[in-house]
Amino acid sequence: MNSQKYKIIDHTYDVVIVGAGGAGLRAALGMAAAGLSTACITKVFPTRSHTVAAQGGMSASLGNMGPDTWQWHMYDTIKGSDWLGDQDAIEYMCREAVPAVIELEHYGVPFSRTAEGKIYQRPFGGMTTNFGEGTAQRTCAAADRTGHAILHTLYQQSLKHKAEFFIEYFAIDLIMDEGVCRGVIAWDLATGEMHRFRAHIVVLATGGCGRAYFSATSAHTCTGDGNAMVIRAGLPLQDMEFVQFHPTGIYGAGVLITEGVRGEGGYLTNSEGERFMERYAPNAKDLASRDVVSRAMTVEINEGRGVGPDKDHIHLHLEHLGSEVIDERLPGIAESAEIFAGVDVTREPIPVIPTVHYNMGGIPTNYHGEVVTLKDGDPDTVVSGLMAIGEAACVSVHGANRLGSNSLLDIVVFGRAAALRAAETIKPGSTHKALSDDSIDPVLERFDRLRNASGGTPTAKIRDDMQRTMQKHAAVFRSGELMQEGVDKMDAVFSSFSDVRVTDRGLIWNTDLVETMELENLLLQAQATIQGALNRRESRGGHAREDYTERDDENWMKHTLAWVSPQGKVRFDYRPVHMYTLSDECEVVPPKIRVY
Ligand code: FUM
Repeated sequence: MNSQKYKIIDHTYDVVIVGAGGAGLRAALGMAAAGLSTACITKVFPTRSHTVAAQGGMSASLGNMGPDTWQWHMYDTIKGSDWLGDQDAIEYMCREAVPAVIELEHYGVPFSRTAEGKIYQRPFGGMTTNFGEGTAQRTCAAADRTGHAILHTLYQQSLKHKAEFFIEYFAIDLIMDEGVCRGVIAWDLATGEMHRFRAHIVVLATGGCGRAYFSATSAHTCTGDGNAMVIRAGLPLQDMEFVQFHPTGIYGAGVLITEGVRGEGGYLTNSEGERFMERYAPNAKDLASRDVVSRAMTVEINEGRGVGPDKDHIHLHLEHLGSEVIDERLPGIAESAEIFAGVDVTREPIPVIPTVHYNMGGIPTNYHGEVVTLKDGDPDTVVSGLMAIGEAACVSVHGANRLGSNSLLDIVVFGRAAALRAAETIKPGSTHKALSDDSIDPVLERFDRLRNASGGTPTAKIRDDMQRTMQKHAAVFRSGELMQEGVDKMDAVFSSFSDVRVTDRGLIWNTDLVETMELENLLLQAQATIQGALNRRESRGGHAREDYTERDDENWMKHTLAWVSPQGKVRFDYRPVHMYTLSDECEVVPPKIRVY
């Protein structure tokens, strides 16, 4: 019935990518270059995607500024993941990192340079030489605007290869047919028209869901729309309980201050002026991995050594670096500190606080980008016609905690891997299976119901309730009691969505409806996150429980799979961690006691 009520415009492509951040664009250019007809649907203009905000850089063992190898990078990534990362995927990523950076350089990314003209590399947290002995300078940087440089270059390359863009289209849901993905439905925000995209493969490159929290470095658009589409398709998300808090979000604003600041020699102090990281991580100090630094800052604040009138944040110093280094290597954060904290970084410290930054969890995939699920006992069953890459995906190369600068690497390497796989498996121009006219009725019914929602609670109120609950009850430190309270509150918030009120009934630039659909997407993921956190009875990576303080490899060295029902109920099962590598050119790293 709704397929008659809404005029549908049909499109047919070999591949459709949803999302035009770094992952989506790298896949788009690769698929288009391979001769596949390629559409890219995006709710924001491509160069406004959240990749634009990535600052510090992209890791790769180029060895331009000291010795380095992909094996050391692999070791650091596995250790940083607190042994939850899949080692086959990590090997793939770390080996491919070097050619990936060189390829970007050839595409035109304006990397910063050493005196000899090589790509400049800075140290980042958890990146070491010789399996933990020294500090690696592994993060390739374009000043502190690396994501901006990469995103613009990839968009130019995608246009060059004739990928077609559908800009400011909001993807609503996947078209699923007997477990196979056959396309996606999207709403053109400017004209109000509905579009049905048929494709042999739909690639979800829709980013994370940081906006489930009150304070996040993520853009307001980071609502995990692809993850929610997967949930509605009856498929699980993986490891959603692992949420990364970046140590240095600007206090009060949440805006990112890159880890590159500490890589260039910046440091943190408490109210006593003490460089407290020396106590928590005597070797790595301020460049310990993010979970370690965020926990240390939180302990300092909780024990009364925070700075400011309310003693609720920490100081980040870079005054001693001097204007020359700041102007050349950190110009963007100097501007952000001025705008969002009123601070001149050459004279004063920046007020910072651990801030939600990244979802280690997401849509489970293999290292080709194909979505996998647990079916008939097989944890690696490929879902035909569906791929996921970037922060939307859980490959899982980051396990329980991502190392800084492995994200720009992940999006480029797995965007490319997805393109290679699509080129291998799809014959360009091959015919699509016929679909019945009413196959998209449930999608349109949901859209129509939300468009006409006439309850008593504004979207903004429910969103605020969700964000505050998540901020308080699924935080840096978690306990069973705190999380149980949070689960109960989130159940109530989830139920309150049935009373949501949308006031704009129009179809053209209806931001009221867009925000409501984004909220529904976030609510599903918030349920998977907080219930997953309560379910995992150990501490690992970004998941630090006060009631289960140890990592428990015997019982919890496994990926959580979470299926979320339309009523917000969560069911769990598990997938094994891949402890095997792709080749025998690297040591398989056994789990060890956490040593930083
Ligand atoms: O601190 C940063 O520049 C962030 C990088 C990352 O999350 O990889």
